[in-house]
Amino acid sequence: MNALKNALSIPLLLACFWGAPVAAADSTAGEQKSATCLGCHGPKGKSGSAQWPNLAAQQSTYIVNQLNAFKTGTRSNPIMQAMAGNLNDDDIKNLAAYYSGLPPVSAGGDPALVKSGQAKADMCLGCHGSSAKGNGQFPRLAGQHPGYLVNQLGHFKEGMRKNGPMQAIVGNLSDEDIKALAAYFGSL
Ligand code: HEC
Ligand code: HEC
Repeated sequence: MNALKNALSIPLLLACFWGAPVAAADSTAGEQKSATCLGCHGPKGKSGSAQWPNLAAQQSTYIVNQLNAFKTGTRSNPIMQAMAGNLNDDDIKNLAAYYSGLPPVSAGGDPALVKSGQAKADMCLGCHGSSAKGNGQFPRLAGQHPGYLVNQLGHFKEGMRKNGPMQAIVGNLSDEDIKALAAYFGSL
């Protein structure tokens, strides 16, 4: 009897999921919502300061993950936790669609450091993509502000930002390595 009930309820359950409308990400709605972000992240996702990361052409999956991480407090930053707390799942999806669709920007990097950074960058590209454009959960590093990258690598090193692979990797990097890698990726 129970087996029969289960056999009947599974297709019913599936039918319910299939029947539910799945809203597609709406980058126009994301653009409207981004009015509250541009004071820091800049017009078209190009920020004017290394305090604030560029969001232009960032991976949409990565943006969704980070906004949820701020929202639940697994990534800590008082400003972004407050901002993300006001966003619902649709806002997050729409903002990610908007920012990921913008043309990439390049912050540039100290030319004196770029070469030594390039020599060390191979170990990063397996995850962050052959041109450091990112892929899904792996963020784009290309063109990001070097000062922001240095800060985040420091956060992984101190354990303030948590991610198993990244914490293991930065454990093997000196401060000089970090500065050089950040300059190289920023220059792309
Ligand atoms: C008052 C300034 C400010 C505003 C407004 C703001 N942010 Fe941020 N945002 C920051 C800072 C600072 C960081 C870096 C946090 C850190 O160091 O971890 C950040 C980080 C992020 C990140 C992570 C990027 C990465 O590369 O990991 C995302 C995504 C993000 N913000 C999206 C948004 C969105 C979407 C909005 C608007 C709804 C917004 N932010 C509004 C200051 C701001
Ligand atoms: C095994 C895969 C892997 C490798 C190799 C790797 N990363 Fe990462 N990296 C990640 C993941 C996953 C994240 C996102 C973590 C999260 O969700 O918070 C990340 C995040 C980052 C961030 C934060 C970016 C931002 O916008 O906040 C920086 C900076 C970074 N990685 C630099 C590097 C550098 C430099 C190297 C090479 C020395 C490297 N990574 C190698 C997987 C990797």
